[in-house]
Amino acid sequence: MASSAEPVIVVEGLAKTFLQGFFRRRVEAVRGVSFEVRSGEIFGFVGPNGSGKTTVIKMLTGLIAPTSGRATLFGEPIPSAKARARIGFSPENPYIYPYITPREFVEMCGALSGLRGAELRARAMASLERTGVAYAADRPARALSKGMQQRTSIAAAILHEPELLILDEPMSGLDPVGRKEIRDLILEEQARGRTIFLSTHILADVESICQRVTVLKKGEVVVSGTLRELLGGEVLHTDIVVDSLPDQLREALVAEGLVVSPRGVHVLIEVASSAAASAVLRRLIEAGVEVVEVSPKRENLEDLFMRRAI
Ligand SMILES: Nc1ncnc2c1ncn2[C@@H]1O[C@H](COP(=O)(O)OP(=O)(O)OP(=O)(O)O)[C@@H](O)[C@H]1O
Ligand SMILES: [Mg+2]
Repeated sequence: MASSAEPVIVVEGLAKTFLQGFFRRRVEAVRGVSFEVRSGEIFGFVGPNGSGKTTVIKMLTGLIAPTSGRATLFGEPIPSAKARARIGFSPENPYIYPYITPREFVEMCGALSGLRGAELRARAMASLERTGVAYAADRPARALSKGMQQRTSIAAAILHEPELLILDEPMSGLDPVGRKEIRDLILEEQARGRTIFLSTHILADVESICQRVTVLKKGEVVVSGTLRELLGGEVLHTDIVVDSLPDQLREALVAEGLVVSPRGVHVLIEVASSAAASAVLRRLIEAGVEVVEVSPKRENLEDLFMRRAI
């Protein structure tokens, strides 16, 4: 296994131009993308629809060739059959032949990785259990929901215990419980020492489980770094939530320029700086107001995404 500092994926100036249709129109899907994924981390790969995420993944997994640039997986230049054996891949919108069952599909993928006999059967079932589709192991795929097909595809990706998992939109089609289960599974894989490359639109998931993130826009990297670096900035404002506010105090705060608005059954007071927040808090407490919550607000990934990627 690679040491913790060693990059598992290195991408340098990777580009892909498709020639589309009869007139061979040029589509610059990926335009000189560079990033690194370190061993043992959960790496978030995000960007709006059509920004080039799947195209990068297809180049990394050897499904299509880059137009220019370089990339290595475990130090091997792509495409590398040797590196591919160490990867588990779950594609965007996985296709499972409608007449085979999750058990057959996962066993078939395991057989392609060289597993055989009782070990293959046991591992296939264990993977289906981990992704929560064991109860439907013998139903034909055409009778499975989108989320169950997604889980079957992820079961196939983890079966051979790969060191690197590449997951393209693994949460799509999953309900909130399913999303949490897949998030937990990704965290479990990380705890087992695996590296996870996670492409997703769900920024809250990236913020809650990833260490590093790269944001693409129109085929280019617009933001890259650890979440600590990107989101650890200054406090933008402080939210004070109170149970209720006497009219006189409300009017005084509004006259001073503070924003006071309903927040569910409570009242939200937005204060521009932390120094001002202390003063407001003192006044609230002196007036006998019950303070429910005080939270300093920093930029979150969604704010950053809206500012830089859209
Ligand atoms: N085979 C192809 N031929 C022509 N254009 C393509 C091809 N594959 C992708 N593209 C174009 O490349 C761009 C990037 O597509 P890609 O699928 O990589 O985006 P994505 O970031 O994965 O989007 P999404 O979030 O919707 O999955 C898009 O403009 C797309 O239309
Ligand atoms: Mg995609």
